[in-house]
Amino acid sequence: MITYDPASVPHPQMHGILLSGVAPRPIAFVASRSANGDINLAPFSFFNAFASKPPVVAIGPAMSVRSGKVKDTWRNILETGECTISAVTYGMLHQMNIAAAEYPAGTDEFVKAGLTKVPAETVSVPYVGESPFAMECRFIQNIELFREEGGNGNIMLLRVHRIHVKESVLTDGKIDPRKMDLIARMGYHWYARVTPHVCFELPQPGERCGIGLDMLPEPIRQSPILTGNDLGQLASVLELPARDPSFREPRSNADSVEHELIAGNPRGALDAALRLGPPNQWTFHRIARAFLAVNDVSGAWQTLYLAHPEIAP
Ligand SMILES: Cc1cc2nc3c(=O)[nH]c(=O)nc-3n(C[C@H](O)[C@H](O)[C@H](O)COP(=O)(O)O)c2cc1C
Repeated sequence: MITYDPASVPHPQMHGILLSGVAPRPIAFVASRSANGDINLAPFSFFNAFASKPPVVAIGPAMSVRSGKVKDTWRNILETGECTISAVTYGMLHQMNIAAAEYPAGTDEFVKAGLTKVPAETVSVPYVGESPFAMECRFIQNIELFREEGGNGNIMLLRVHRIHVKESVLTDGKIDPRKMDLIARMGYHWYARVTPHVCFELPQPGERCGIGLDMLPEPIRQSPILTGNDLGQLASVLELPARDPSFREPRSNADSVEHELIAGNPRGALDAALRLGPPNQWTFHRIARAFLAVNDVSGAWQTLYLAHPEIAP
């Protein structure tokens, strides 16, 4: 491990290190209006949602470390108290990057980037028509970060008064991340694109407190086959499952553990293992992994009981 003390790392280097680990970050395409009425548009990845009742988001417009120059967005929001935030999709990537250029104050980056202005309902700042998701926001508070130490950061808290969502990104009335095609900011000049195949669902446990990895029987916890994710799935049960004696009876004529594992068929692999005679305990561990890969936690536990009969409750 390399350990950094921010106090002894030059600022540009610290910026790259910090933002590589605090990633992926959503990108807010922030439209704002100056007191003179000039419209401005710029991307900010120091951005997130912090509450939903009422909805509150925050952005972090920084000051230039060298010149102390502030972002037009920051000054505008302090002047007029309003902005809109549009989500950035892969289809807008290069137009977003044009809007990130440091044009002189008064430049309308909607025009520079060729993006569509859609009038908002509750603020006098448009949002980006190409975006599938946009929010109308009002300024709550600005927190200046460590100015006395030369700090260049700000946190601007914004309350959300309207959210606009394109019907094209809905599935059964809910926003579907696979249809949004959002991009995220990583460290340095890296981005990530949220394509459908990188999306997956995992419900939060909430009050369902699993037994935890510390309560897994020793032969499972020490398995050279099972990974941390596998152990996490096994440890999500509320108690050790009861043994199902019928599980040890082959249910099909499958005759090759390896073929069935490659085919992603853990039950077939188990049948083949049982039909071929007492298998090695690690074969059972590999089959248990295959059950976990298809989210069959119960199948995985029953398979591990076959490897270690002594651990079954
Ligand atoms: C993807 C992306 C994310 C950015 N995030 C931030 C940020 O969180 N804070 C910041 O101060 N600048 C950020 N920038 C740089 C600003 O967008 C840039 O300085 C812009 O010119 C500011 O425009 P403005 O002065 O019109 O507000 C980001 C740039 C890009 C391309």
